[in-house]
Amino acid sequence: MADATAFDTPDPTLGELLAARPMLSMHPSAGLCVEEVPLTRLADAVGTPAWVYSATTLRSRARALTGALSNAALNAHCHFAVKSNPNLAVLALLAREGFGADIVSEGEMRAARAAGIPARNIVFSGVGKTERELRLAIAEDIQQINLESAEEAEMLSAIATTLGRTMRVALRVNPHVDAKTHAKITTGTDENKFGVDVPLAPDLYRRICALPGLEPLGLAVHIGSQITRGIGSYAAAYRRLGELVVALRARGLPVPRVDCGGGLGIPYRDETPAGPEALAGAIHSGLGNLGLELMLEPGRWICGPAGVLLSRVVIQKQGTARRFVILDAAMNDLIRPAMYESWHGILPVSPTRFHAPVSAADVVGPVCESSDTFTTHRALPDLPGGELVAILDAGAYGASMSSTYNARPLAPEILVEGARWSVVRQRQGYDALLAGQSVPDWLAPDRLVP
Ligand SMILES: Cc1ncc(COP(=O)(O)O)c(C=O)c1O
Repeated sequence: MADATAFDTPDPTLGELLAARPMLSMHPSAGLCVEEVPLTRLADAVGTPAWVYSATTLRSRARALTGALSNAALNAHCHFAVKSNPNLAVLALLAREGFGADIVSEGEMRAARAAGIPARNIVFSGVGKTERELRLAIAEDIQQINLESAEEAEMLSAIATTLGRTMRVALRVNPHVDAKTHAKITTGTDENKFGVDVPLAPDLYRRICALPGLEPLGLAVHIGSQITRGIGSYAAAYRRLGELVVALRARGLPVPRVDCGGGLGIPYRDETPAGPEALAGAIHSGLGNLGLELMLEPGRWICGPAGVLLSRVVIQKQGTARRFVILDAAMNDLIRPAMYESWHGILPVSPTRFHAPVSAADVVGPVCESSDTFTTHRALPDLPGGELVAILDAGAYGASMSSTYNARPLAPEILVEGARWSVVRQRQGYDALLAGQSVPDWLAPDRLVP
Protein backbone atom coordinates (compact mmCIF):
# COMPACT_ATOMS: atom_id res chain seq x y z
CA MET A 1 0.00 0.00 0.00
CA ALA A 2 1.14 3.56 -0.61
CA ASP A 3 2.66 5.08 2.49
CA ALA A 4 2.70 8.88 2.58
CA THR A 5 6.28 8.76 3.82
CA ALA A 6 7.29 7.15 0.51
CA PHE A 7 6.69 10.41 -1.41
CA ASP A 8 8.76 13.56 -1.44
CA THR A 9 5.80 15.84 -2.18
CA PRO A 10 2.85 16.39 0.16
CA ASP A 11 -0.36 14.53 -0.63
CA PRO A 12 -2.94 16.54 -2.57
CA THR A 13 -5.60 17.96 -0.25
CA LEU A 14 -9.20 16.75 -0.44
CA GLY A 15 -10.08 20.00 -2.24
CA GLU A 16 -7.28 19.52 -4.78
CA LEU A 17 -8.35 15.93 -5.44
CA LEU A 18 -11.91 17.04 -6.09
CA ALA A 19 -10.95 20.03 -8.24
CA ALA A 20 -8.80 17.84 -10.52
CA ARG A 21 -11.66 15.42 -11.28
CA PRO A 22 -14.29 17.03 -13.48
CA MET A 23 -16.80 14.17 -13.17
CA LEU A 24 -17.00 14.76 -9.39
CA SER A 25 -18.66 17.61 -7.50
CA MET A 26 -19.46 18.27 -3.86
CA HIS A 27 -23.07 19.34 -3.55
CA PRO A 28 -23.68 21.40 -0.38
CA SER A 29 -26.44 19.08 0.84
CA ALA A 30 -26.39 15.93 -1.36
CA GLY A 31 -22.63 15.50 -0.97
CA LEU A 32 -20.24 13.95 -3.44
CA CYS A 33 -21.79 13.34 -6.86
CA VAL A 34 -20.59 11.43 -9.91
CA GLU A 35 -21.92 13.54 -12.76
CA GLU A 36 -25.34 14.55 -11.36
CA VAL A 37 -25.94 11.50 -9.19
CA PRO A 38 -25.28 11.75 -5.43
CA LEU A 39 -23.28 8.78 -4.22
CA THR A 40 -25.48 8.56 -1.11
CA ARG A 41 -28.42 7.75 -3.41
CA LEU A 42 -26.46 4.92 -5.05
CA ALA A 43 -25.31 3.56 -1.69
CA ASP A 44 -28.91 3.55 -0.42
CA ALA A 45 -30.24 1.88 -3.57
CA VAL A 46 -27.49 -0.63 -4.34
CA GLY A 47 -25.48 -0.95 -1.13
CA THR A 48 -21.73 -0.84 -0.72
CA PRO A 49 -19.09 -1.55 -1.81
CA ALA A 50 -19.98 -0.61 -5.38
CA TRP A 51 -18.10 0.55 -8.46
CA VAL A 52 -19.47 3.71 -10.06
CA TYR A 53 -18.48 4.70 -13.59
CA SER A 54 -19.10 7.97 -15.44
CA ALA A 55 -20.28 7.41 -19.02
CA THR A 56 -19.53 11.00 -19.95
CA THR A 57 -15.94 10.66 -18.77
CA LEU A 58 -15.44 7.42 -20.71
CA ARG A 59 -16.84 9.01 -23.83
CA SER A 60 -14.92 12.26 -23.57
CA ARG A 61 -11.63 10.47 -22.94
CA ALA A 62 -12.24 8.14 -25.90
CA ARG A 63 -12.89 11.20 -28.06
CA ALA A 64 -9.84 13.06 -26.74
CA LEU A 65 -7.62 10.15 -27.72
CA THR A 66 -9.10 9.58 -31.16
CA GLY A 67 -9.10 13.36 -31.73
CA ALA A 68 -5.38 13.62 -30.88
CA LEU A 69 -4.59 10.77 -33.29
CA SER A 70 -6.53 12.28 -36.14
CA ASN A 71 -5.11 15.76 -35.46
CA ALA A 72 -1.66 14.23 -35.91
CA ALA A 73 -2.90 12.85 -39.26
CA LEU A 74 -2.32 9.28 -38.11
CA ASN A 75 -4.24 6.46 -39.73
CA ALA A 76 -4.91 4.85 -36.36
CA HIS A 77 -7.62 2.70 -34.82
CA CYS A 78 -8.12 2.20 -31.07
CA HIS A 79 -8.74 -1.18 -29.49
CA PHE A 80 -9.73 -0.86 -25.83
CA ALA A 81 -7.69 -3.13 -23.52
CA VAL A 82 -10.55 -5.20 -22.14
CA LYS A 83 -8.48 -6.35 -19.17
CA SER A 84 -8.66 -2.85 -17.71
CA ASN A 85 -12.46 -2.93 -17.49
CA PRO A 86 -14.41 -5.78 -19.09
CA ASN A 87 -17.86 -4.58 -18.05
CA LEU A 88 -20.18 -5.07 -21.05
CA ALA A 89 -21.72 -1.60 -20.71
CA VAL A 90 -18.26 -0.01 -20.77
CA LEU A 91 -17.29 -2.05 -23.83
CA ALA A 92 -20.57 -1.22 -25.59
CA LEU A 93 -20.14 2.50 -24.88
CA LEU A 94 -16.62 2.45 -26.29
CA ALA A 95 -17.72 0.40 -29.29
CA ARG A 96 -20.13 3.22 -30.11
CA GLU A 97 -17.10 5.53 -30.10
CA GLY A 98 -15.54 3.32 -32.74
CA PHE A 99 -13.25 1.37 -30.41
CA GLY A 100 -12.47 -2.26 -31.03
CA ALA A 101 -11.16 -4.63 -28.35
CA ASP A 102 -7.70 -5.78 -27.34
CA ILE A 103 -8.25 -9.13 -25.62
CA VAL A 104 -6.06 -11.64 -23.82
CA SER A 105 -8.35 -14.61 -23.22
CA GLU A 106 -11.41 -16.50 -24.42
CA GLY A 107 -13.40 -14.82 -21.66
CA GLU A 108 -12.44 -11.38 -22.92
CA MET A 109 -13.27 -12.44 -26.49
CA ARG A 110 -16.71 -13.51 -25.33
CA ALA A 111 -17.16 -10.26 -23.40
CA ALA A 112 -16.20 -8.18 -26.44
CA ARG A 113 -18.55 -10.12 -28.72
CA ALA A 114 -21.37 -9.96 -26.12
CA ALA A 115 -20.92 -6.19 -25.98
CA GLY A 116 -21.44 -6.02 -29.74
CA ILE A 117 -17.83 -5.52 -30.84
CA PRO A 118 -17.46 -7.14 -34.24
CA ALA A 119 -14.81 -9.85 -34.62
CA ARG A 120 -13.08 -7.72 -37.27
CA ASN A 121 -12.36 -5.17 -34.50
CA ILE A 122 -10.74 -7.62 -32.09
CA VAL A 123 -6.99 -8.05 -31.55
CA PHE A 124 -5.72 -10.95 -29.45
CA SER A 125 -2.58 -10.28 -27.36
CA GLY A 126 -0.97 -12.34 -24.60
CA VAL A 127 2.00 -14.53 -23.97
CA GLY A 128 0.22 -17.84 -23.37
CA LYS A 129 -2.79 -18.22 -25.64
CA THR A 130 -4.05 -21.78 -25.51
CA GLU A 131 -4.79 -24.00 -28.49
CA ARG A 132 -8.49 -23.75 -27.68
CA GLU A 133 -8.29 -19.93 -27.63
CA LEU A 134 -6.41 -19.82 -30.93
CA ARG A 135 -8.97 -22.13 -32.55
CA LEU A 136 -11.79 -19.92 -31.33
CA ALA A 137 -10.04 -16.78 -32.59
CA ILE A 138 -9.71 -18.37 -36.03
CA ALA A 139 -13.32 -19.58 -35.99
CA GLU A 140 -14.50 -16.07 -35.07
CA ASP A 141 -12.17 -14.65 -37.75
CA ILE A 142 -10.93 -11.85 -35.49
CA GLN A 143 -8.88 -9.01 -36.88
CA GLN A 144 -5.42 -10.05 -35.71
CA ILE A 145 -3.45 -12.25 -33.37
CA ASN A 146 -0.29 -10.74 -31.89
CA LEU A 147 2.29 -13.51 -31.77
CA GLU A 148 4.70 -13.49 -28.83
CA SER A 149 7.17 -16.24 -29.84
CA ALA A 150 8.43 -18.50 -32.60
CA GLU A 151 6.77 -21.40 -30.81
CA GLU A 152 3.40 -19.68 -30.83
CA ALA A 153 3.78 -18.87 -34.54
CA GLU A 154 4.36 -22.58 -35.29
CA MET A 155 1.41 -23.56 -33.12
CA LEU A 156 -0.97 -21.09 -34.78
CA SER A 157 0.24 -22.03 -38.24
CA ALA A 158 -0.47 -25.70 -37.52
CA ILE A 159 -3.95 -24.97 -36.17
CA ALA A 160 -4.88 -22.61 -39.03
CA THR A 161 -3.62 -25.10 -41.62
CA THR A 162 -5.61 -27.94 -40.07
CA LEU A 163 -8.71 -25.75 -40.15
CA GLY A 164 -7.96 -24.74 -43.75
CA ARG A 165 -7.86 -21.07 -42.74
CA THR A 166 -5.46 -18.13 -42.86
CA MET A 167 -5.03 -15.91 -39.81
CA ARG A 168 -3.80 -12.33 -39.81
CA VAL A 169 -0.89 -11.90 -37.39
CA ALA A 170 1.55 -9.35 -36.05
CA LEU A 171 4.79 -10.09 -34.24
CA ARG A 172 5.10 -8.50 -30.80
CA VAL A 173 8.59 -7.17 -30.39
CA ASN A 174 10.32 -6.19 -27.25
CA PRO A 175 12.16 -2.94 -27.97
CA HIS A 176 14.25 -3.20 -24.78
CA VAL A 177 12.96 0.11 -23.49
CA ASP A 178 12.51 0.71 -19.79
CA ALA A 179 9.15 2.45 -19.36
CA LYS A 180 10.22 3.48 -15.82
CA THR A 181 6.98 2.30 -14.35
CA HIS A 182 6.33 -0.10 -11.47
CA ALA A 183 8.39 -3.30 -11.89
CA LYS A 184 5.22 -5.40 -11.92
CA ILE A 185 3.78 -3.53 -14.92
CA THR A 186 6.81 -2.95 -17.11
CA THR A 187 6.81 -5.21 -20.14
CA GLY A 188 9.24 -3.89 -22.72
CA THR A 189 12.67 -5.02 -21.58
CA ASP A 190 14.49 -8.23 -22.47
CA GLU A 191 13.97 -9.45 -18.91
CA ASN A 192 10.20 -9.54 -19.38
CA LYS A 193 8.34 -12.55 -20.68
CA PHE A 194 6.61 -10.53 -23.39
CA GLY A 195 7.40 -10.32 -27.08
CA VAL A 196 10.48 -11.18 -29.11
CA ASP A 197 13.73 -9.27 -28.71
CA VAL A 198 14.43 -6.87 -31.60
CA PRO A 199 17.64 -8.64 -32.75
CA LEU A 200 15.66 -11.88 -33.20
CA ALA A 201 12.73 -10.23 -34.94
CA PRO A 202 13.92 -10.03 -38.60
CA ASP A 203 14.64 -13.75 -38.93
CA LEU A 204 11.52 -14.73 -37.08
CA TYR A 205 9.37 -12.37 -39.17
CA ARG A 206 10.79 -13.92 -42.32
CA ARG A 207 9.97 -17.38 -40.96
CA ILE A 208 6.44 -16.30 -40.13
CA CYS A 209 6.03 -15.00 -43.69
CA ALA A 210 6.87 -18.48 -44.92
CA LEU A 211 4.56 -20.35 -42.54
CA PRO A 212 1.33 -21.67 -44.04
CA GLY A 213 -1.93 -20.41 -42.62
CA LEU A 214 -0.50 -17.07 -41.46
CA GLU A 215 -0.80 -13.64 -43.06
CA PRO A 216 1.79 -11.37 -41.41
CA LEU A 217 0.59 -7.80 -41.20
CA GLY A 218 3.35 -6.26 -39.17
CA LEU A 219 4.61 -5.59 -35.67
CA ALA A 220 3.15 -4.96 -32.23
CA VAL A 221 4.66 -3.41 -29.13
CA HIS A 222 3.53 -2.64 -25.58
CA ILE A 223 6.20 -1.38 -23.20
CA GLY A 224 4.28 -1.20 -19.94
CA SER A 225 1.40 0.34 -18.08
CA GLN A 226 0.91 3.54 -16.05
CA ILE A 227 3.74 5.25 -17.94
CA THR A 228 4.06 8.66 -16.29
CA ARG A 229 7.67 9.74 -16.74
CA GLY A 230 7.44 11.71 -19.95
CA ILE A 231 7.13 10.45 -23.48
CA GLY A 232 10.78 9.42 -23.91
CA SER A 233 10.28 5.68 -23.51
CA TYR A 234 7.44 5.68 -26.03
CA ALA A 235 9.49 7.78 -28.45
CA ALA A 236 12.43 5.36 -28.14
CA ALA A 237 10.20 2.32 -28.65
CA TYR A 238 8.46 3.71 -31.73
CA ARG A 239 11.78 4.85 -33.20
CA ARG A 240 13.12 1.32 -32.78
CA LEU A 241 9.96 -0.12 -34.32
CA GLY A 242 10.21 2.31 -37.23
CA GLU A 243 13.79 1.19 -37.90
CA LEU A 244 12.65 -2.42 -37.77
CA VAL A 245 9.84 -1.76 -40.24
CA VAL A 246 12.36 -0.23 -42.65
CA ALA A 247 14.75 -3.16 -42.18
CA LEU A 248 12.04 -5.75 -42.79
CA ARG A 249 10.77 -3.95 -45.87
CA ALA A 250 14.35 -3.76 -47.16
CA ARG A 251 14.35 -7.56 -47.04
CA GLY A 252 11.25 -7.53 -49.20
CA LEU A 253 8.89 -8.49 -46.35
CA PRO A 254 5.40 -6.97 -46.13
CA VAL A 255 4.87 -4.71 -43.09
CA PRO A 256 1.68 -2.72 -43.57
CA ARG A 257 0.71 -2.33 -39.90
CA VAL A 258 2.07 -1.52 -36.43
CA ASP A 259 0.14 -2.00 -33.19
CA CYS A 260 1.46 0.67 -30.81
CA GLY A 261 0.09 -0.87 -27.59
CA GLY A 262 -1.26 0.97 -24.56
CA GLY A 263 0.26 2.18 -21.34
CA LEU A 264 -0.56 5.90 -21.06
CA GLY A 265 -0.52 6.81 -17.38
CA ILE A 266 -3.02 8.82 -15.37
CA PRO A 267 -2.55 11.07 -12.34
CA TYR A 268 -3.57 9.09 -9.26
CA ARG A 269 -1.67 11.42 -6.90
CA ASP A 270 0.32 14.28 -8.41
CA GLU A 271 1.86 12.58 -11.44
CA THR A 272 1.97 14.62 -14.63
CA PRO A 273 1.92 11.98 -17.36
CA ALA A 274 2.13 12.78 -21.03
CA GLY A 275 -1.29 12.96 -22.67
CA PRO A 276 -2.71 11.74 -25.98
CA GLU A 277 -1.22 14.64 -27.95
CA ALA A 278 2.30 13.77 -26.81
CA LEU A 279 1.64 10.09 -27.53
CA ALA A 280 0.37 10.94 -31.01
CA GLY A 281 3.50 13.06 -31.51
CA ALA A 282 5.80 10.18 -30.50
CA ILE A 283 3.96 7.80 -32.83
CA HIS A 284 4.15 10.36 -35.61
CA SER A 285 7.87 10.93 -35.26
CA GLY A 286 8.75 7.24 -35.02
CA LEU A 287 6.27 5.70 -37.41
CA GLY A 288 4.40 8.54 -39.12
CA ASN A 289 6.20 8.58 -42.47
CA LEU A 290 6.05 4.88 -43.23
CA GLY A 291 2.54 4.73 -44.69
CA LEU A 292 1.49 2.40 -41.87
CA GLU A 293 -1.92 1.42 -40.67
CA LEU A 294 -1.67 1.96 -36.90
CA MET A 295 -3.44 0.46 -33.93
CA LEU A 296 -3.49 1.41 -30.24
CA GLU A 297 -4.51 -0.62 -27.20
CA PRO A 298 -5.32 1.91 -24.48
CA GLY A 299 -6.93 0.76 -21.25
CA ARG A 300 -6.22 2.69 -18.07
CA TRP A 301 -6.12 6.13 -19.71
CA ILE A 302 -9.67 5.66 -20.99
CA CYS A 303 -11.38 4.13 -17.98
CA GLY A 304 -9.20 4.70 -14.88
CA PRO A 305 -10.33 8.25 -14.09
CA ALA A 306 -13.94 7.35 -14.99
CA GLY A 307 -14.58 5.17 -11.94
CA VAL A 308 -14.75 5.31 -8.15
CA LEU A 309 -15.14 2.57 -5.60
CA LEU A 310 -17.91 3.61 -3.21
CA SER A 311 -17.55 2.16 0.27
CA ARG A 312 -19.01 2.59 3.73
CA VAL A 313 -16.99 2.83 6.91
CA VAL A 314 -17.71 -0.21 9.05
CA ILE A 315 -15.98 1.13 12.13
CA GLN A 316 -13.30 3.62 13.07
CA LYS A 317 -10.77 2.23 15.51
CA GLN A 318 -8.33 4.31 17.52
CA GLY A 319 -5.08 2.50 18.33
CA THR A 320 -2.19 3.85 20.42
CA ALA A 321 -0.23 4.93 17.36
CA ARG A 322 -2.76 4.89 14.53
CA ARG A 323 -6.34 5.71 13.67
CA PHE A 324 -7.83 2.99 11.47
CA VAL A 325 -10.81 3.65 9.21
CA ILE A 326 -12.12 0.19 8.41
CA LEU A 327 -14.15 0.04 5.20
CA ASP A 328 -16.56 -2.52 3.80
CA ALA A 329 -14.41 -2.53 0.64
CA ALA A 330 -11.24 -4.58 0.73
CA MET A 331 -8.24 -5.78 -1.22
CA ASN A 332 -10.44 -8.42 -2.84
CA ASP A 333 -12.33 -5.52 -4.48
CA LEU A 334 -9.42 -3.17 -5.28
CA ILE A 335 -6.11 -4.97 -5.10
CA ARG A 336 -3.90 -2.27 -6.62
CA PRO A 337 -2.66 -0.76 -3.32
CA ALA A 338 -1.72 -4.21 -1.96
CA MET A 339 -0.24 -5.41 -5.24
CA TYR A 340 1.52 -2.35 -6.63
CA GLU A 341 1.77 -0.02 -3.61
CA SER A 342 -0.48 2.24 -5.64
CA TRP A 343 -1.89 5.51 -4.30
CA HIS A 344 -5.59 6.31 -4.69
CA GLY A 345 -7.31 9.50 -3.60
CA ILE A 346 -10.01 8.96 -0.99
CA LEU A 347 -12.82 11.48 -0.51
CA PRO A 348 -15.54 11.58 2.12
CA VAL A 349 -18.99 11.68 0.52
CA SER A 350 -20.58 13.88 3.21
CA PRO A 351 -20.07 17.64 2.63
CA THR A 352 -19.71 18.18 6.39
CA ARG A 353 -16.92 15.60 6.62
CA PHE A 354 -15.32 16.96 3.44
CA HIS A 355 -14.91 20.38 5.06
CA ALA A 356 -14.00 19.11 8.56
CA PRO A 357 -10.46 19.25 10.02
CA VAL A 358 -8.20 16.36 9.01
CA SER A 359 -5.68 14.18 10.79
CA ALA A 360 -3.67 11.11 9.86
CA ALA A 361 -5.57 7.88 9.33
CA ASP A 362 -4.93 4.44 7.86
CA VAL A 363 -7.77 3.31 5.60
CA VAL A 364 -8.05 -0.46 5.56
CA GLY A 365 -10.38 -3.25 4.54
CA PRO A 366 -11.73 -6.08 6.69
CA VAL A 367 -9.77 -8.89 5.01
CA CYS A 368 -7.39 -10.91 7.17
CA GLU A 369 -4.17 -9.63 5.60
CA SER A 370 -2.09 -6.67 6.74
CA SER A 371 -1.72 -5.74 3.07
CA ASP A 372 -5.47 -5.10 2.98
CA THR A 373 -4.64 -1.43 3.41
CA PHE A 374 -5.73 1.27 0.99
CA THR A 375 -3.49 3.91 2.50
CA THR A 376 -1.51 4.86 5.60
CA HIS A 377 -0.98 8.27 7.25
CA ARG A 378 -3.62 9.89 5.04
CA ALA A 379 -5.01 13.30 6.06
CA LEU A 380 -8.71 12.59 6.48
CA PRO A 381 -11.51 13.88 8.69
CA ASP A 382 -13.10 11.90 11.47
CA LEU A 383 -14.92 9.06 9.65
CA PRO A 384 -17.05 7.08 12.08
CA GLY A 385 -18.95 3.94 11.10
CA GLY A 386 -21.69 4.59 8.55
CA GLU A 387 -19.84 7.35 6.67
CA LEU A 388 -19.35 6.88 2.94
CA VAL A 389 -16.08 7.34 1.08
CA ALA A 390 -15.15 7.26 -2.59
CA ILE A 391 -11.83 5.71 -3.61
CA LEU A 392 -10.87 7.61 -6.73
CA ASP A 393 -9.56 6.62 -10.15
CA ALA A 394 -10.71 3.04 -9.68
CA GLY A 395 -12.21 2.51 -13.14
CA ALA A 396 -9.22 0.56 -14.50
CA TYR A 397 -7.81 -2.66 -13.05
CA GLY A 398 -10.36 -2.31 -10.25
CA ALA A 399 -13.40 -4.54 -10.72
CA SER A 400 -11.49 -6.50 -13.35
CA MET A 401 -8.90 -7.61 -10.77
CA SER A 402 -11.40 -8.35 -8.01
CA SER A 403 -11.60 -11.73 -6.37
CA THR A 404 -13.86 -13.36 -3.84
CA TYR A 405 -11.07 -13.79 -1.26
CA ASN A 406 -12.44 -14.19 2.26
CA ALA A 407 -15.65 -15.43 0.54
CA ARG A 408 -16.66 -11.85 -0.22
CA PRO A 409 -19.04 -11.56 -3.18
CA LEU A 410 -18.04 -9.40 -6.15
CA ALA A 411 -19.29 -5.83 -5.82
CA PRO A 412 -21.87 -4.41 -8.25
CA GLU A 413 -21.03 -1.94 -11.02
CA ILE A 414 -23.11 1.15 -11.78
CA LEU A 415 -22.96 3.34 -14.88
CA VAL A 416 -23.96 6.98 -14.47
CA GLU A 417 -24.77 9.42 -17.22
CA GLY A 418 -25.95 12.89 -16.24
CA ALA A 419 -28.76 12.34 -13.73
CA ARG A 420 -29.51 8.75 -14.73
CA TRP A 421 -27.85 5.57 -13.59
CA SER A 422 -28.12 1.83 -14.13
CA VAL A 423 -26.70 -1.19 -12.38
CA VAL A 424 -24.57 -2.75 -15.11
CA ARG A 425 -23.46 -5.69 -13.01
CA GLN A 426 -25.47 -7.03 -10.09
CA ARG A 427 -23.83 -7.68 -6.75
CA GLN A 428 -22.84 -11.33 -6.72
CA GLY A 429 -25.25 -13.30 -4.54
CA TYR A 430 -24.17 -15.93 -2.04
CA ASP A 431 -25.70 -18.70 -4.18
CA ALA A 432 -23.52 -17.55 -7.09
CA LEU A 433 -20.53 -17.34 -4.77
CA LEU A 434 -20.90 -21.01 -3.84
CA ALA A 435 -22.16 -22.19 -7.24
CA GLY A 436 -20.23 -24.97 -8.92
CA GLN A 437 -18.79 -26.36 -5.71
CA SER A 438 -19.78 -29.70 -4.24
CA VAL A 439 -18.76 -32.04 -1.46
CA PRO A 440 -17.87 -35.53 -2.83
CA ASP A 441 -20.00 -38.51 -1.67
CA TRP A 442 -17.02 -39.92 0.16
CA LEU A 443 -17.05 -36.87 2.42
CA ALA A 444 -20.83 -36.89 2.91
CA PRO A 445 -21.74 -36.43 6.58
CA ASP A 446 -23.14 -40.04 6.95
CA ARG A 447 -19.74 -41.44 5.85
CA LEU A 448 -17.77 -39.49 8.40
CA VAL A 449 -16.54 -41.36 11.41
CA PRO A 450 -17.88 -39.51 14.48
C1 LIG B 1 -0.59 -6.02 -24.68
C2 LIG B 1 -1.25 -4.96 -23.88
N1 LIG B 1 -1.89 -3.98 -24.51
C3 LIG B 1 -2.51 -2.99 -23.83
C4 LIG B 1 -2.51 -2.95 -22.45
C5 LIG B 1 -3.22 -1.84 -21.76
O1 LIG B 1 -2.39 -1.07 -20.97
P1 LIG B 1 -2.91 0.24 -20.28
O2 LIG B 1 -4.14 -0.12 -19.52
O3 LIG B 1 -1.82 0.66 -19.41
O4 LIG B 1 -3.20 1.22 -21.36
C6 LIG B 1 -1.84 -3.95 -21.74
C7 LIG B 1 -1.79 -3.90 -20.28
O5 LIG B 1 -0.94 -4.37 -19.60
C8 LIG B 1 -1.20 -4.98 -22.48
O6 LIG B 1 -0.55 -5.96 -21.85
